[in-house]
Amino acid sequence: MATQETPLIQARGLEGVVALDSELCFIDGQQGTLIYRGYDIFDLARHTSFEEVAYLLWNGHLPNRSERDELLARLQAERTLPPMVAELLGMTPEDASPMAVLRSAVSALALFDAEADDPSPEANYRKAIRLTARIPVLLAAFDRRRKGLPPVPPRKHGSTAFDFLHMLTGEEPGEAAERTFDTCLVLHAEHGLNASTFAARVIGATLSDIYSAVTGAIGALKGPLHGGANIEVMRMLLEIDRTGRDPVQYVKEKLARKERVMGFGHRVYKTLDPRAAILRDMVEALSEERGQRKWYDYSMKIMETMEREKGLYPNVDFFSAPVYYMLGIAPDLFTPIFAMSRITGWTAHLLEQWKDNRLIRPRAAYVGPRNLAVRPLDER
Ligand code: ACO
Repeated sequence: MATQETPLIQARGLEGVVALDSELCFIDGQQGTLIYRGYDIFDLARHTSFEEVAYLLWNGHLPNRSERDELLARLQAERTLPPMVAELLGMTPEDASPMAVLRSAVSALALFDAEADDPSPEANYRKAIRLTARIPVLLAAFDRRRKGLPPVPPRKHGSTAFDFLHMLTGEEPGEAAERTFDTCLVLHAEHGLNASTFAARVIGATLSDIYSAVTGAIGALKGPLHGGANIEVMRMLLEIDRTGRDPVQYVKEKLARKERVMGFGHRVYKTLDPRAAILRDMVEALSEERGQRKWYDYSMKIMETMEREKGLYPNVDFFSAPVYYMLGIAPDLFTPIFAMSRITGWTAHLLEQWKDNRLIRPRAAYVGPRNLAVRPLDER
């Protein structure tokens, strides 16, 4: 008996498609509003730390002091790498892309986690904490090794921002640098069903494990149309600086060649991304403080040109690039740092997915030929 097919809806790139219900994040792309679990991003950026936001995303409410301290202590205790994963980092080519290293190392972490395939919510929460604690250790260890510097072991105290900057540079960051970096982590923690989070949920929805889902998400984030854009933004700013080009002319020529200017445009925001507004202020403050006003000036000229010429606004990747650069971080670490924060959003989505799971499986409209007959091999 013929059964009736569900009507098909076509949306290229799934634009405008609502795939699931989520309590994690609300975005109003027309107004430029971003809310994590009911809290506006401006309020969170001003008044919370990355660890508090991680707690909020995972548990649904902002922590009180003892809940925050307990999470921080668990994160600190997990800032360690299984010896085999540390050894793997030691064998990684020094010129490897840090995102490729991160993807491989996160996948390898699963091999040394006795709970890797335990699907219970309690084990998944522990793994979310473990991953959040270990990604900064992995990245700092790889960066120092490729620079020929001795590793700096985690202090296992202080915030994620503090210990990461310390492991990266070998020096304790000042309060201002720690706070700036911490705010960047808050801003990047969650953003609805973006490509990498969707990838994580698609993998999670097959009832695969958290490491597989996060490894896939890292692969999605790596692309220059998603998290990889921040590296390209810095390449552009550095090229403008090195060649002494006028940023306005530079951008106009790029557009005339029909090239994309990275850090602009967004599938959801049709106005200024609120995270970009916060980061823009951070670029201005850091440029003044460090006597490097040029990064702010170049960025503002590019922003004004893109709005005038294309009606496009900066996204989170545009102003985060000069912020990280002025904090002394290598440009190819910008996307891994995004992952270091977004791991909280990815894992919060996975915990949510598994509470009420359904396989995610869209359809493709078939546009190939039909009714072909197979001819014998010698006659083709
Ligand atoms: N530079 C120049 N033109 C652009 C840009 C850009 N950055 N972004 C969009 N456009 C143009 C496109 O060429 C297209 O023009 P057309 O209609 O004349 O061909 C139009 O705007 C619509 O672009 P789409 O690619 O269809 O928009 P979509 O929603 O699919 O893409 C995306 C969104 C991928 C973010 C896009 O704006 C882009 O490529 N931006 C640059 C990369 C970037 O910054 N990515 C980071 C996004 S934020 C994040 O993921 C963390």
